[in-house]
Amino acid sequence: MGDIGTFARLGRTQRGTGSRLFAATLRLAAARGLAAINATIRADNAGGPAFYGRLGFTEHARRRAVPLRDGTRIDRISKRFALRRSG
Ligand SMILES: CC(C)(COP(=O)(O)OP(=O)(O)OC[C@H]1O[C@@H](n2cnc3c(N)ncnc32)[C@H](O)[C@@H]1OP(=O)(O)O)[C@@H](O)C(=O)NCCC(=O)NCCS
Repeated sequence: MGDIGTFARLGRTQRGTGSRLFAATLRLAAARGLAAINATIRADNAGGPAFYGRLGFTEHARRRAVPLRDGTRIDRISKRFALRRSG
């Protein structure tokens, strides 16, 4: 399984960047024979999980109350996109 993070322009002024980046990621991941792609997102990031959900990722794990450097505890949501049935 490969891990990704996606960073495009903030503010929704230039839509489509994230999905184009993911299309390129998918081609590379398939060429390398990966079974699945994982994205782990902080639960206080409302847009990230929604974005990955639109791309077809589904939640497969959640780590509860993981501390930030300042001690604030935030869940981490892991979402997976299967490339092969076994993924
Ligand atoms: C998340 C991020 C990469 C999305 O990039 P983007 O270029 O806006 O994404 P796209 O325009 O390709 O959107 C693809 C789909 O996701 C949806 N989507 C994107 N951002 C969304 C948001 N904040 N809330 C709800 N849906 C969202 C779009 O509506 C689109 O769905 P559609 O095809 O039905 O229209 C970008 O907002 C970003 O860089 N955010 C800051 C970094 C971050 O939090 N990354 C995620 C964690 S690693």
